[in-house]
Amino acid sequence: MTTSPASGHHRFQTLVPLALAAILLLGASRLKIESSCSKTSCKHVLQRVFSFTAMHKTKIRNDDGGDDEHIYHDALRNGSCNVFEGAWVLDESNPRPLYTEESCPYLTTQVTCLSNGRPDSLYQKWRWKPHACQLPRFDALKLLESLRNKRLMFIGDSLQRTQWESMVCLVESAIPDSKKSMTKIPPRRIFMAEEYNASIEFYWAPFLVESNADHATKHHVQKRQVKLDSISKHSKNWEGVDVLVFESYVWWMNKPLINATIGSLEMKEYNVTTAYRLALQTLGKWLDSTMNPLTQKAFFMSLSPTHIWSWEWNSGSNGNCFNEATPIQAPYWGIGSSHQIMDAVRDTLQDLKVNVTLLNITQLSEYRKDGHTSVYTERQGKLLTFEQRSQPEIYADCVHWCLPGVPDTWNEILYMYLLYGPSRH
Ligand SMILES: *[C@@H]1O[C@H](CO)[C@@H](O)[C@H](O)[C@H]1NC(C)=O
Ligand SMILES: *[C@@H]1O[C@H](CO)[C@@H](O)[C@H](O)[C@H]1NC(C)=O
Ligand SMILES: *[C@@H]1O[C@H](CO)[C@@H](O)[C@H](O)[C@H]1NC(C)=O
Ligand SMILES: *[C@@H]1O[C@H](CO)[C@@H](O)[C@H](O)[C@H]1NC(C)=O
Ligand SMILES: *[C@@H]1O[C@H](CO)[C@@H](O)[C@H](O)[C@H]1NC(C)=O
Ligand SMILES: *[C@@H]1O[C@H](CO)[C@@H](O)[C@H](O)[C@H]1NC(C)=O
Repeated sequence: MTTSPASGHHRFQTLVPLALAAILLLGASRLKIESSCSKTSCKHVLQRVFSFTAMHKTKIRNDDGGDDEHIYHDALRNGSCNVFEGAWVLDESNPRPLYTEESCPYLTTQVTCLSNGRPDSLYQKWRWKPHACQLPRFDALKLLESLRNKRLMFIGDSLQRTQWESMVCLVESAIPDSKKSMTKIPPRRIFMAEEYNASIEFYWAPFLVESNADHATKHHVQKRQVKLDSISKHSKNWEGVDVLVFESYVWWMNKPLINATIGSLEMKEYNVTTAYRLALQTLGKWLDSTMNPLTQKAFFMSLSPTHIWSWEWNSGSNGNCFNEATPIQAPYWGIGSSHQIMDAVRDTLQDLKVNVTLLNITQLSEYRKDGHTSVYTERQGKLLTFEQRSQPEIYADCVHWCLPGVPDTWNEILYMYLLYGPSRH
């Protein structure tokens, strides 16, 4: 990779070495690729839909914490449980995953690592156990009931899209085939639970504010430009949405500087941290001026960590997340996870009039060097070839996550806050 261990700690960590740029680009272009898939990958999807019909009746076991609701309310209100501090455990009495690659017909090929040839599956079996409490049992019907006549929308980049896919898979098995639907209206994807008149949506806006990466296909990773004070093109599509979940990180982290504009002023190179702050302030202004805190909720997902340099957790090694089959045990924070960006998020959210809940999933995800799609994924709409797979130093994707996997935990936490969080209405 481009960063050497010696200089790493003091340098800006580019998260998008050239090899990965194509993967991020794919994030946007998939909108098109999926509807025009090749013969082989379409066949693949059809097979999964078919086997799903048989799987549907099998109820997936799940015996978490029980349904003692006041415990979860209290835990979030009185601060007795920080759900972001804990450990990954293997627990056969409370097994993961909560769905499988075969059971969920909506998973995209990008994330189905086992079908794509990953030989180990332990990465699916870890459950996040906060030190001071349990996460509540994920009850899809309870979530759907709370979303009755409502819209839940995930807004951000391809990592956010994975979280959305995960949420769809977590709820879809509770809904009969004829009562659910999936629609793509770029830049949106909409899963509908018809009997509930509830939608779970994804909205592509990798910088949240407007940028030349907003178009599904027509943009270039190396030529990105961001309009730090413009958001209305996107935000007009978010108005009145009952639950908004935002995320944006990795697209900013290409170079230490980013080309951006404010107002009609000319394009200028901004320090990424400065630019990120300005963009979040633009989002904040929109939230403060349009959000009704009595009827709407907003969340912000903290940055999703990457595992691009194995010397960080295994000194002397020279690889990446490829072949990593177990989580990191010791306390760990990767240098790719910018504290300056974390601070920018915290400061901006604190200054808002409306409550936006930060779900600080960075640390718990930092442990999961084993959870990435690695070489068991696709690039530009095609599964990696055998030859590409044998070159993990070039082709492993250590940014995105397999599903089932780590993003399911992000959603278990979101579930807890949605149902039992302080600003419940
Ligand atoms: C917070 O609520 C939990 C669950 O009801 C309870 O066990 C705990 O004692 C409470 N802690 C404080 C500090 O009130
Ligand atoms: C269905 O949900 C939409 C979006 O939340 C809402 O605007 C509409 O009023 C709902 N329809 C009914 C019949 O409640
Ligand atoms: C960006 O600005 C921050 C302070 O706001 C500074 O700490 C950081 O080093 C700057 N980054 C670059 C790449 O100049
Ligand atoms: C900003 O744009 C100019 C002109 O296209 C280009 O030369 C420069 O490399 C860009 N800067 C960054 C940080 O991408
Ligand atoms: C998120 O948690 C990590 C440690 O788990 C902490 O270092 C960081 O400051 C927190 N971020 C925010 C914005 O609170
Ligand atoms: C925001 O959350 C705090 C703490 O949970 C609560 O006291 C306050 O009333 C909330 N404010 C709004 C505008 O909902």
